[in-house]
Amino acid sequence: MEQDIKITIIDRDGEAHEIDAPTDMAMNLMEVVRSYELAPEGTIGVCGGMAMCASCQCYVLSDHELPEMQDDEEAMLSEAFDVQENSRLGCQIAITPELEGLKVELAPES
Ligand code: FES
Repeated sequence: MEQDIKITIIDRDGEAHEIDAPTDMAMNLMEVVRSYELAPEGTIGVCGGMAMCASCQCYVLSDHELPEMQDDEEAMLSEAFDVQENSRLGCQIAITPELEGLKVELAPES
């Protein structure tokens, strides 16, 4: 489908998956990871995408321009474990055509 973009997601075992993500279904990155079962149920998206759990934390490896962080995402990441410069909450990243070729790595389960 032409509304799909390619995203590479490195799972918590270090394995890279190149997947197609739909841009026309109002999905976020956390939901994409869940729909492809790249992390076991219950270890990602715990708060349902409310920026309240950090289970969807990922490291952004490509230099895409991402939507700016909102206060709740910033606050959550300031309390989360294993946070790095390029950490983002997957649930706060909407899948849009601009993210074609995005590459992210899932942060360790905390
Ligand atoms: S799913 Fe909880 S912060 Fe993203």
